[in-house]
Amino acid sequence: ESRLKTRWLGKKVYAYETVDSTNNRAKQLAMDGALNGSVVLAEIQTAGKGRRGRSWCSPPGSGIWMSLILKPEFMPECAPMLTLVMAHSVAMGIRETTGLEAFIKWPNDVVVNRKKVCGILTEMSAEVDYIHHIVIGCGINVNIAGFPDEIAQTATSLLNEAGRTFSRAAVAERVLEWFEKDYEIFIKDLDLTGLRDTYNDLLAGRDGMVRVLDPKGEYNGISRGIDARGELLVEQEGKTLRKVYAGEVSVRGI
Ligand code: BTN
Repeated sequence: ESRLKTRWLGKKVYAYETVDSTNNRAKQLAMDGALNGSVVLAEIQTAGKGRRGRSWCSPPGSGIWMSLILKPEFMPECAPMLTLVMAHSVAMGIRETTGLEAFIKWPNDVVVNRKKVCGILTEMSAEVDYIHHIVIGCGINVNIAGFPDEIAQTATSLLNEAGRTFSRAAVAERVLEWFEKDYEIFIKDLDLTGLRDTYNDLLAGRDGMVRVLDPKGEYNGISRGIDARGELLVEQEGKTLRKVYAGEVSVRGI
């Protein structure tokens, strides 16, 4: 029985025991006519996908492996900002259901005590001026007790950080409730104007030194938070602001 307090998001939930990837499953369902706001969940992912072609470690039964199907009417260039919207929703949902101080690592990782608890992967099927569907995939490490050696330094779970387990349903529901609210704020301006201040309040390393690793050159500066388009403003000597557009760039605290 769902206690989900949303108006349109998650009114239809596709829940699976095992899928390759909830994003793949969601894309298929979207092609086959699944409605805007449908949510796909799985207990087990056999081939969970991360960004930049990486794989996403998804142990059975202990995380939230979830994908949202959206069929919006805005232009494709707005879609990347939804990943930042989702990061905001996840950080808020985690804070409210666990009491942990979740932060956002720009653009769209959610961290607790500087380690990653959530990753987001947005995929879109679109023409130049028309979106067929967007899938926002979100993996939250809830009750995972241990991680493979390769990621143990950088990954954590809500269980590891709080020392207790949490109801995955409660966390997922709260995240969805936040996303519905945040999405409606986003839609008003089709940018992050209405969410920017709260996003920046949750930003890890804000006003601290960061190193920007851009394929076109590396540099240091002070992170001043995002602008309305979701670009990170990095202040360099002489107070000049450089806008960092998500993509191939990576930013790390120093
Ligand atoms: C990243 O940080 O690299 C993004 C990770 C996204 C993982 C989630 S788990 C649910 C959804 N299905 C997938 O295959 N990936 C996303």
